[in-house]
Amino acid sequence: MLSSYSLVLPNKVFSGEEALSQLCGILASEKSKKVAVFTDSGIKKAGVLELVLNYLDKAEVVYEIFDDIVPEPTYMQVQQIVSNCESYGADFIIAIGGGSVMDTAKLASVLSGSSYTVKDLLQNPLSSSKKIKTLMIPTTAGTGAEATPNAIVAVPEEQLKVGIVNPDMVSDYVILDYRMVENLPLPIAASTGIDALCHAIECFTSNKANPFSDLFALNSLSLILKNIEKASLDREAKKEKENMLIASFYAGIAITSSGTTAVHALSYPLGGRYHIAHGISNAILLMPVMRFNEDVCSPRLADAYDFCFGEASGKDEKWKSSYMLSRMGEIVKNLNIPTSLAGFGVTLDDLDDLVDAGMKVTRLLNNNMKKVSKEDARKIYMEVL
Ligand SMILES: NC(=O)c1ccc[n+]([C@@H]2O[C@H](COP(=O)([O-])OP(=O)(O)OC[C@H]3O[C@@H](n4cnc5c(N)ncnc54)[C@H](O)[C@@H]3O)[C@@H](O)[C@H]2O)c1
Ligand SMILES: [Zn+2]
Repeated sequence: MLSSYSLVLPNKVFSGEEALSQLCGILASEKSKKVAVFTDSGIKKAGVLELVLNYLDKAEVVYEIFDDIVPEPTYMQVQQIVSNCESYGADFIIAIGGGSVMDTAKLASVLSGSSYTVKDLLQNPLSSSKKIKTLMIPTTAGTGAEATPNAIVAVPEEQLKVGIVNPDMVSDYVILDYRMVENLPLPIAASTGIDALCHAIECFTSNKANPFSDLFALNSLSLILKNIEKASLDREAKKEKENMLIASFYAGIAITSSGTTAVHALSYPLGGRYHIAHGISNAILLMPVMRFNEDVCSPRLADAYDFCFGEASGKDEKWKSSYMLSRMGEIVKNLNIPTSLAGFGVTLDDLDDLVDAGMKVTRLLNNNMKKVSKEDARKIYMEVL
């Protein structure tokens, strides 16, 4: 445990029935007149954007839609959107999307009107401060990006994804409205839900775990373990979908105060090199990393069991920690998510490069309670090849 720790939270968060209707009040209180709306083509196609625009039309503001954000963008692609937003001269940014859209919006909020670029922030993430306030409306459940100070961009020349962390990127407003995730296609609901699961369990078993992050990580974990399958598989499961939105938000808060560990560290090269979606690469690595970590993390996993399922009489730490692992494995199986890299074009010839790239993600590897050596990383990748 760290002896000092902190928590940065979004200023105002709305959830529950018709949460989106708060939009007009938010814009009025900000005296906003010119809004940049960040989204992507998949969200437009799904009809989700329309829902928000209906509320936006009621507010007396002009807005422009920036919808050419691609999933898991490179820093150059983000720079293009940031420059377009800057030319527009928005006084408020609304992000309607998954992590890719929200991360792009966060970078625009600190870069618009500054003399810095995304590339500059890769070198020195704190060089720029908030210029435009943001409202995040997540459409996946999810990255929790609506809560975190992180923005992840792909850096093709290094074949890596890199996290830019700046507390000024924490959003000012968040709206969690279940209608945004109501019709999520199963593969996206499943993989983004597993991403939230990884955030919760990694943050709880991280070297940076602390009382603040534990509160959010455990509540997130409990909600995910109880809701993820129904939320992903049943279109009518309104309550479960809302619970997943809340759980991914909580897991985002846990990231802010604690940090993810070896699942995310070893996952970054899979996104950067092979363009495997973030949630899928995490789902592939979750069980091998958890099995690797179990001997050291078993007391934490047993505590997580007690919180999520209540104390089980006659069951020892080992039993509880094994149960947590088997429940996570069951979720990956039930949601039919890939559990290996077969089919993603990764071969044995790639192993050395993968290990080298994974071992460079020291920001997250250092959070892993069990030290990960180069040989350990090789074994973990080998398990999923
Ligand atoms: N900032 C953070 O704290 C943080 C945390 C974890 C991951 N990330 C980053 O977030 C990105 C991944 O975000 P993501 O997993 O949310 O996916 P995404 O934003 O990349 O979107 C994936 C796809 O889902 C579609 N989609 C999103 N919502 C939809 C909806 N409601 N209906 C239909 N289609 C929908 C999009 O159009 C897109 O095609 C990665 O770059 C990852 O590294 C950031
Ligand atoms: Zn993640």
